[in-house]
Amino acid sequence: MPVETINWKNGRIRYIDQTLLPGRLKFVECDNIPKLWKAIKTLAIRGAPAIGIAGALGVVLGANSCKTESRGVFLRDLRRQIKYLASSRPTAVNLFWALARMESVAESNIGKPVSAIRRLLLKEALQILEDDRNACRAMARYGASLVKAGDTILTHCNAGGLATADYGTALGVLFESKRLGKRIKVYVDETRPLLQGARLTAWELIHERIDTTLICDNMAASLMAKGKIDKIFVGADRIASNGDTANKIGTYSLAVLATHHGVPFYVVAPVSTFDLDINTGRDIPIEERGGDEVRTVMGKMIAPKNVKVYNPAFDVTPNHLIRAIITEKGILKAPYSRSLRRSAA
Ligand code: MRU
Repeated sequence: MPVETINWKNGRIRYIDQTLLPGRLKFVECDNIPKLWKAIKTLAIRGAPAIGIAGALGVVLGANSCKTESRGVFLRDLRRQIKYLASSRPTAVNLFWALARMESVAESNIGKPVSAIRRLLLKEALQILEDDRNACRAMARYGASLVKAGDTILTHCNAGGLATADYGTALGVLFESKRLGKRIKVYVDETRPLLQGARLTAWELIHERIDTTLICDNMAASLMAKGKIDKIFVGADRIASNGDTANKIGTYSLAVLATHHGVPFYVVAPVSTFDLDINTGRDIPIEERGGDEVRTVMGKMIAPKNVKVYNPAFDVTPNHLIRAIITEKGILKAPYSRSLRRSAA
């Protein structure tokens, strides 16, 4: 069973500090928005669906901290807090999707007393969490239908329970395949610079007793050249209308390699990761992070401290490199401009 990455307990957000894994499994309680903002920014809470859930629960914290009974003041304050939460990370659209859903609950109930709006906001945030749980299970079922017993699968970053409210997206497919009795082997990219693959994905897979082998990111090509990879499953942070997909830096190079070697490359993501307001991946904002993430490994300096660094956290995989996008609504195929819109309707 997956660990409980994020939830609401006794009027606070309770989450796992993912920066400490795999060394330490620490649950943190959070009762204020600045602390939550920092947790998202520093990747203590990370992964697109989990960031969305954190944002939604953050709006509840904001609503509870605003003591006014004036609806006008309440709504103005809530919008300010939502804007602040939205500034934590730019790429995963789930954050903006969840914040917009919360804002619209407040707006459409503005005729009610503030205490009632607060209750409705909590209900909505818990619904977002529950919907993500159900989406994970459905994606896992669809995805597992593509996995054959004996398959060797490659994955990148962490698209598991730690990135969602339940089973994960790409890893959910692997957990479900195992549950169905299909014997699989998994290679995990370590995922520099912050090592989500090594620290988080390897930890989750081993916990579920899946045959797991860790590789450095630059070893994937040679495995594919040797014919050792049957399929690749990755998650997503934002999918444009045409299917272009932003995911953790390094995903694009895997997709190019996969196409070159004839390995099917699958993206697994809930519909909340679609951004149908943008046409192509060129419009996806890509987060650039601080240079020390590259100059260091787990806090230890590995490069001259004044060397220049380029550190984009995500890249965009063009739609033609993606064999299918697995969602909670089913397995979507190209042309994605049609299949994405249909499944989001
Ligand atoms: O920077 P991170 O760790 O938040 O990046 C996460 C990813 O890129 C995941 O692959 C993506 O969010 C999918 S999670 C189900």
